[in-house]
Amino acid sequence: MRVHVADHPLITHKLTVLRDKNTSSPMFRALVEELMTLLAYEGTRGVRVEEVTVETPVAVAHGVKISDPKPLIVPILRAGLGMLEGMVKLLPSAEVGFLGMARNEETLEPTTYAERLPDDLSDRQCFVLDPMLATGGSLLHCCRLLVERGCTDVIICCVLAAPEGIDRLTQSGLPLRLVTAAIDQGLNDKAYIVPGLGDAGDRQFGGMRRF
Ligand code: PRP
Ligand code: URA
Repeated sequence: MRVHVADHPLITHKLTVLRDKNTSSPMFRALVEELMTLLAYEGTRGVRVEEVTVETPVAVAHGVKISDPKPLIVPILRAGLGMLEGMVKLLPSAEVGFLGMARNEETLEPTTYAERLPDDLSDRQCFVLDPMLATGGSLLHCCRLLVERGCTDVIICCVLAAPEGIDRLTQSGLPLRLVTAAIDQGLNDKAYIVPGLGDAGDRQFGGMRRF
């Protein structure tokens, strides 16, 4: 799996505020969306395009447009939902599919509680949005589903990734690429990313987890 760490001072600045446990939910949500827009710049570098010509007021110009079939954006609910707006701002013509998953905090296995994805993903590029790649169980499950439906190019956009999750996705042999704002030290005994930012879903939408 090709891994790109989007190393930019603006990204690191926003990520630092996101990590701070005193950052409020409204601010956290705004930052997740802004970070996604910045990550999308790198994530969409390989978006499929085709050559077109347009007439300017002066002459004919050669350019490109995003190819059909249009890319599919898949936010993983809940936490990935906060990244959606930041992505569609840059790719407004993309379609959006949804996958709802929750990690069982005892077994660490993800369960799927919602799925609205096209049955046929042949020739589609898929952009999967989830702020956290921890053990990799959730993203692996999602990416397998997309590849089983014919997708041959999955670009995962994360805010934080743990080396354990990166290794697991790499070993899957699936056609994946990863763009992340940072790779952290690893996982703690509860499989939370260290230093991380805590629970990305709870910090955006509220919840009960305590650290
Ligand atoms: C979080 C996160 C990922 C998953 C990462 O979601 O958004 O989907 O955990 O963990 P993993 O790599 O070990 O699978 P969570 O299951 O907490 O659900 P939520 O988005 O509803 O909070
Ligand atoms: N899910 C989160 O939201 N945060 C982590 O650190 C790990 C899994």
